[in-house]
Amino acid sequence: MPSILVTGASRGIGMEYVTQFAAEGWTVLAACRNPDGAADLKSVAGDVSVYKLDVDDVDSTAALSKALAGRPIDVVVNNAGIIGSRAGFDALDYDAWAEAMNTNVFGPMRVSQALMDNVLAGDRKQIIYISSLMGSIERCAGGAYVYRSSKAALNMAVTCLAQEFGPKGVTALLFHPGHVSTEMGGAGAPVTPTQSVTGMKGVILGLSPADNGKFVNFDGTPLPW
Ligand SMILES: NC(=O)c1ccc[n+]([C@@H]2O[C@H](COP(=O)([O-])OP(=O)(O)OC[C@H]3O[C@@H](n4cnc5c(N)ncnc54)[C@H](OP(=O)(O)O)[C@@H]3O)[C@@H](O)[C@H]2O)c1
Repeated sequence: MPSILVTGASRGIGMEYVTQFAAEGWTVLAACRNPDGAADLKSVAGDVSVYKLDVDDVDSTAALSKALAGRPIDVVVNNAGIIGSRAGFDALDYDAWAEAMNTNVFGPMRVSQALMDNVLAGDRKQIIYISSLMGSIERCAGGAYVYRSSKAALNMAVTCLAQEFGPKGVTALLFHPGHVSTEMGGAGAPVTPTQSVTGMKGVILGLSPADNGKFVNFDGTPLPW
């Protein structure tokens, strides 16, 4: 069966990815910051292995790369992310902004660098990025400087990566997962993790190289940059 690696697998959208792909019979590599505290993740049924990964940390991504050296991975899902500081213009906190950029932009790029050889060795060669419609410049409704700018930067970084690695057979895709009822999205959010990941899974299963570099909703609808 194909293999998939998911970052930020300890809860929310990441854990739902693990649950649904494991249920499909895939080999799932579930990466999270604190495997010792990930009892729920470890109880997911199926072929699931848990790995330690803090995407903020160069040594942690290097250790994961070393642990997985030589192992093909069909799909990598860069899901780990934070909302960061919600401070407005008058109170911008640059340390907090840098922290969000580190997790939401540099993190997925570090993971992409660390695992690119694994992806290139896989049959599917797909790298998924959980972005956000809040990173769309065209749809910007103001506020949330930190989160919006981090996801807009992720969109650009992945666009560059897609152009560089598309010719090598890689398909890179950016998703807006919907407004999802997780710790980040809040209990009242209209889309459940099950609905969000069911949609994204369907899109991933139907991906082709022609989709490289696209930014889409969890149901596959194209989104404006
Ligand atoms: N929920 C929404 O409505 C929504 C909308 C648009 C986009 N998104 C995006 O979807 C992704 C998942 O969000 P979610 O709603 O599932 O959020 P969540 O419930 O807050 O979960 C976030 C996950 O990211 C992990 N994480 C955070 N920083 C990390 C780091 N430095 N290294 C490794 N893992 C880290 C967390 O791990 P710990 O358990 O260790 O903290 C947790 O597993 C994020 O990229 C988010 O920006 C969410």
